[in-house]
Amino acid sequence: MSSAFAGVPGESSAPGAGPFGLPIDPALAAASRDRLAAVEDMLLDAVRSEDPLLTQASKHLVEAGGKRFRPMLVLLAAEFGDPDAPGVVPAAVVVELTHLATLYHDDVMDEATIRRGEESANTRWTNTVAILTGDYLFARASDILADLGPEAVRIQARSFARLVRGQIQETVGPAGTDPLKHYLQVIADKTGSLIATSGQLGSLLAGAPTHVVDTLTSACEKIGVAFQLSDDILDIASDTEQSGKTPGTDLREGILTLPTHHVLAGVGSGSDDARLRELLAADLTDDALHAEALALLRVHPAMDQARADLHRWADDARTELLTLPENPARAALISLCDYVITRRS
Ligand code: IPE
Ligand code: IPE
Ligand code: MG
Ligand code: MG
Repeated sequence: MSSAFAGVPGESSAPGAGPFGLPIDPALAAASRDRLAAVEDMLLDAVRSEDPLLTQASKHLVEAGGKRFRPMLVLLAAEFGDPDAPGVVPAAVVVELTHLATLYHDDVMDEATIRRGEESANTRWTNTVAILTGDYLFARASDILADLGPEAVRIQARSFARLVRGQIQETVGPAGTDPLKHYLQVIADKTGSLIATSGQLGSLLAGAPTHVVDTLTSACEKIGVAFQLSDDILDIASDTEQSGKTPGTDLREGILTLPTHHVLAGVGSGSDDARLRELLAADLTDDALHAEALALLRVHPAMDQARADLHRWADDARTELLTLPENPARAALISLCDYVITRRS
């Protein structure tokens, strides 16, 4: 699976040589590349254990790749203060370790077999190994956090608590409350929280002014919501080769996401979608029914509605970012708002 600078020519002044192929300031691209390399070294070092299986299982997803989207946000947010401050790289490692841990656990919950283009840990080993590896990564993140001070510890702990609440609320479902509102709260909690924390920790530990830290936290949460909206669209629209995950996992698990909420709310109901609605109420662990539902959903107008919603969230994030002091990192963050819309993996 591709990481932030994968596929980007080594020549950092080339157009589009920034993270995710974005056309960012060449000096910033070069500095980010170097700092991300330091994050990578520290990450691999952090997941070593005295137990060979724990080391192997922990390294499994680190080495499988991943975009390093959250570490990249830490580094860009740090540009609003001193990006060379000693806490910045460790903070980027902490958010990636936290994210990684949630992926090990999430794949158990979703019974997912593929992650980052490789076998998920629960498939490669067992649920027990995947759960314990996730726990180990949380512990390693806490260890590094301890050196970043009590405020950083509290921020990560609260973000993690929100993430867990989001995951549990997704499992519980809307239960009598407005389903769309519930869904948006779930994704803000399970994904927006850690992405907001990335912007917050990066800027805070770089010593940026408080109002800048607050704006970055809020804008990154919107980027995080948009990021999950695009993940939910990709879960339907993309294939394993692109996403490194199995398409239709949300449908199979009976998890309603934005496109399916729109179908059920009657978006595009002029189209003949009675069969799709029937399937959405069925057990989609059946392979044939699942394939039929996925095919119908892919061409349903609800997908366009979901894409329009995604645009709106990305636009809101961009508007907030524009209130920040102008610098190359602000331009890079603004181009990340386009990236969350256009990304394919
Ligand atoms: C996957 O996150 C889980 C979500 C919150 C959508 P990413 O899409 O950032 O996964 P990696 O890190 O690139 O594998
Ligand atoms: C889970 O959302 C996000 C986390 C907090 C890990 P998803 O279940 O949609 O994430 P993917 O699609 O498996 O990466
Ligand atoms: Mg999942
Ligand atoms: Mg998903």
